[in-house]
Amino acid sequence: MDLDLRSSWWIRNVEIPTRLVLAPMAGVSVQAFRRQGRRFGAGLVCSEMVSCAGIEHRNERTLGYLRVASDEHPLAIQLFGSEPGTMAEAARMVEAAGADLVDLNFGCPVRKVTKTGAGATMLDDPDRACRVVAAIAEAVELPVTVKMRRGVRNGSRDCLVVGPRLVEAGAASITLHPRSAQQMYTGTADHALTAELASLVDVPVVASGDVTSRARAQAVLATTGAAAVMIGRAAQGNPWVLEEIVDGVEREPSREEIVAELLLFVRQTVRELGERRAHGFLKKFYGWYLGRGRFPRQFKQELVTVSSLDEVERRLLAAAPDARELVEELEADVPPGDEITLELPISIYGGG
Ligand SMILES: Cc1cc2nc3c(=O)[nH]c(=O)nc-3n(C[C@H](O)[C@H](O)[C@H](O)COP(=O)(O)O)c2cc1C
Repeated sequence: MDLDLRSSWWIRNVEIPTRLVLAPMAGVSVQAFRRQGRRFGAGLVCSEMVSCAGIEHRNERTLGYLRVASDEHPLAIQLFGSEPGTMAEAARMVEAAGADLVDLNFGCPVRKVTKTGAGATMLDDPDRACRVVAAIAEAVELPVTVKMRRGVRNGSRDCLVVGPRLVEAGAASITLHPRSAQQMYTGTADHALTAELASLVDVPVVASGDVTSRARAQAVLATTGAAAVMIGRAAQGNPWVLEEIVDGVEREPSREEIVAELLLFVRQTVRELGERRAHGFLKKFYGWYLGRGRFPRQFKQELVTVSSLDEVERRLLAAAPDARELVEELEADVPPGDEITLELPISIYGGG
C-alpha cells in the first residue's frame, strides 16, 4: 500500500507534517520560496547553505540568511564549513535565530566550497565529519541533521560507511542525494543506495534526487524505506508540483494564479533582499514560473531586461489583470511579521 504523503513523521522532537521536504538550493531557497513551499504541502523546508566562516566574521549578507519567519516552521538552516569549533558556534546562532533543525552540508560538489575542505570533501574525511557532528550535537539542543552525496568519486559507496558513523556521532536524520560529487547533476540518482543506507541506520532517511512526480515519490518511498522525499529542481517556479505530489491532485494553474504567485514571490523577495539585490536574483524565476500559462516567449524575454521591479509588476498585471485581486488575497493571508530578530546590525532586517 502507498504511504500517505500527508502523514507526519519525526526528527527527534520535531514533528514534520508531510512526507515532502523542500530542498535547500543556493540562489533559490529564500524565505519566499520556503514559505510558499510550506503553503503548497512541503512538511519541512530548508535554507540554502550558509557559510560558517561568514557567520564567524559577522558578514552581513551571511547573517541575513538566518532570518526565520513564523510561517516557515518546521525549518532547517543548513551550514557548511569544516572546523568543528566554528561550526558549533554557527549552530548556536542558528538555534538563537529560531530554526527547528540545524542541517550540515556534506554534499556540495562546487569547487569554491570543496577546496576549503567543506561540502562533499567531508565524505573523504569521516573522522572530521564525525567531530563536526559531535561538536554541534554537544553545543545545541536542536537536532543535527546531515545532507550528503553518495561519495566524492563516481561509483563511490562511501555514504554507507560514513552515514552510520555520523548517526553514531549524533546525527538525527540523514538526507542522501545518491549521486557522486564528481557527477554533479549528470546521470541519475541511484536510490538503491538510499535503501541500503535506510537499512543500516535507525534514524529517518530522506531521499533526494530526481523526484518530480507523485508516482516517483511513492516508488522511492516504497522501495527505499525512506521517511520522506526531497523535492528540488522540480519545485523551481512550480509550487503546484508539491500539491500534486502530496495530494495527488493534478491541476494546471490558471494564468492568474501563476502571476499572483510570482508577484507575491517578487514582493516578499524585495522585502528580504532589498530592491537592488532582488532585481538580479529574481530574473531566473520569470522563466521558471512563466513556462506554463502560455505566455508568449517575447513577454518572458522582455521581463528579464526591464529596468525596475515596478515595471516587472506592471507588465505581469497587464498580462493577467485578475491576478491583482488574487495576490491581494494571498498577501492578506501572510501572517504579520513576528520574526525573531537577533542582536545584529539593523541593516540586515531592512532588506540590506
Ligand atoms: C541550484 C541548486 C542549488 C543547490 N544548492 C544546495 C545547497 O545549498 N545545499 C544542499 O545541500 N544541496 C543543494 N542542492 C542540491 C539539492 O538540494 C538536491 O539534493 C539536488 O538538486 C537533487 O534533487 P532534485 O533532483 O530534486 O533537484 C542544490 C541544487 C541546485 C539545483
